[in-house]
Amino acid sequence: MPQVEIRELKPATDESHLEQLLEAYMEIFNHPDNLGYLSLTQIPFDEDETKKWLIRSQDQGRRYFAVVGDAARILAISVVKADPRLGFEISKLAVRPEVKYQGFGRLLIDCALTTAAGEGFQAVDASVFADNDATLRLTVGAGFTPVRMTHHLRADGGDIVHLRKYLDPE
Ligand SMILES: CC(C)(COP(=O)(O)OP(=O)(O)OC[C@H]1O[C@@H](n2cnc3c(N)ncnc32)[C@H](O)[C@@H]1OP(=O)(O)O)[C@@H](O)C(=O)NCCC(=O)NCCS
Repeated sequence: MPQVEIRELKPATDESHLEQLLEAYMEIFNHPDNLGYLSLTQIPFDEDETKKWLIRSQDQGRRYFAVVGDAARILAISVVKADPRLGFEISKLAVRPEVKYQGFGRLLIDCALTTAAGEGFQAVDASVFADNDATLRLTVGAGFTPVRMTHHLRADGGDIVHLRKYLDPE
């Protein structure tokens, strides 16, 4: 694996994080290879709307982790929702298509698990479209178990598999 680091970006409070994350978010999440697995409506993420979401993220418990490579290039992003009342959820995850299958998705999953455990959560949730073989293999390989399904949620009728991993108490 090339030398990379994982950084938590704070777009609600840091203008440079906001710019860096917005640019990478639009490129990675809207890439045709990725969008179908990320958007319920299958409509691309709108830049102005996404910027508003990033600015409001702190109030809404959304946090952003990025795999950062050479020249500070963001290679992969995860969005997690952490709420002491509701739980810890990996809500989005995507890797630049040209660097897929190099372990970055797994790095972000492991980062979410470590972060959740460090903050006292006892479980981590993830939701994956039922036809997303790569992410199902990734999450099951990381110890998640399917716990329920939601049917016909995606615009084309696609179903969602909800998975959970229980964490060992520290
Ligand atoms: C799914 C995704 C995040 C995986 O990231 P990645 O960096 O390519 O995956 P990794 O290299 O960390 O692979 C880890 C494991 O995931 C699974 N996996 C990853 N890509 C896979 C593929 N194309 N086919 C089958 N399994 C795959 C494998 O189990 C792999 O472990 P292995 O190498 O021991 O077999 C990435 O392919 C992606 O961005 N997909 C589009 C967006 C998406 O589906 N996001 C998830 C929404 S819930």
